[in-house]
Amino acid sequence: MLINNLSAHVTSYRSSIDAAIKRVLDRAWLVLGPEVENFEKLFADYIQVAQCRSVANGTDALELALRALGVKAGDKVATVANAGMYTSTAILSIGGTPIFMDVDLVTQVVMQSEVERAITQGVKAVVVTHLYGQAQLDIAGIADKCRTAGVALVEDCAQAHGARVNGKRVGSFGDAGCFSFYPTKNLGALGDGGAVVCSDAELAEKVGHLRQYGWLAKYQVAMAGARNSRLDEVQAAVLSEFLPHLDSWNARRRDIASQYSQRIRHPAVILPSIGGDDYVAHLYVVRCSERDSLRQHLRKVDIATDVHYPIPDHRQPIFGNRFSDVRLPNTEQLAQEVLTLPCYPEMTDEDVEQVISAVNNWPVAALEKGGN
Ligand SMILES: Cc1ncc(COP(=O)(O)O)c(C=O)c1O
Repeated sequence: MLINNLSAHVTSYRSSIDAAIKRVLDRAWLVLGPEVENFEKLFADYIQVAQCRSVANGTDALELALRALGVKAGDKVATVANAGMYTSTAILSIGGTPIFMDVDLVTQVVMQSEVERAITQGVKAVVVTHLYGQAQLDIAGIADKCRTAGVALVEDCAQAHGARVNGKRVGSFGDAGCFSFYPTKNLGALGDGGAVVCSDAELAEKVGHLRQYGWLAKYQVAMAGARNSRLDEVQAAVLSEFLPHLDSWNARRRDIASQYSQRIRHPAVILPSIGGDDYVAHLYVVRCSERDSLRQHLRKVDIATDVHYPIPDHRQPIFGNRFSDVRLPNTEQLAQEVLTLPCYPEMTDEDVEQVISAVNNWPVAALEKGGN
């Protein structure tokens, strides 16, 4: 069993994908045209914000949102270190300095106390990542704290399309919300894609300039720090076809996650807290101190797993010893323990059964050998 099955996904929606591509080809308007405009409007309505600007990928969304919010070379920006390095990459591209915040051991999203600590360290912006599909439940309180301190707040929603806190969708709490439409995301394109959402028209306009060479008008370059980062018309057309399915895909993901949580029972496997509509089950991530042994056992019965993520940002080789004095105890522990089980809408009930019984049947002997 695969960790994702894009073949099944594309096959199920092949006729609407073909229709979307045909629509674009018939028009032969291929970049920044009516499909992009339409998708941006649909996605802004879905998140319930006024503005959306699509870009080429989620990492660009983070970088361009931070730039539009005024982050410059030399500025400090706070981020977690357990979310795959994407935000750190965006910060480094600007020439900023990441200030790493630790996460809660149970929810695996940033702790509010860590946001407060970062604010006292003089950050220009805070990025909160809603990881694995789990929203940071105090996001409204964090937004208040940032506003009071005059610090910009960006939500990284690349793994949490559609998750809600008190009825409000993630991406609508901060100054900007950033999304990736990488094919395996809860809302994925047929290639790379991303978006920045916000309520401020001026901020959206800046992102619009930054994604297209810094043009204020054609060939008039007025903004520094820009690039070419556009979503193409084919991807926008496909995303518009897929968006109406997002809630039902999320419901199926949640259904699989809740079956796992109800029925996986193993003394050495810690299950995630899966909440309500604040968790859209992008990834179902268990913890296990004998992770490699569990992984090997699942591989033997043909179940693929993954580790999101094995190296915390502050320990990435690119940094050498730069952050060797930074200690993030929960983040460092989690990097040793997390294991992602298959969880995607195309899984059959039999697939789900197979995963549950494979984990439950992981032999206790393996545990004893591992010293648990
Ligand atoms: C949490 C998070 N942030 C940002 C990104 C970056 O998105 P992309 O791969 O589209 O650049 C990803 C996805 O890969 C992600 O999972």
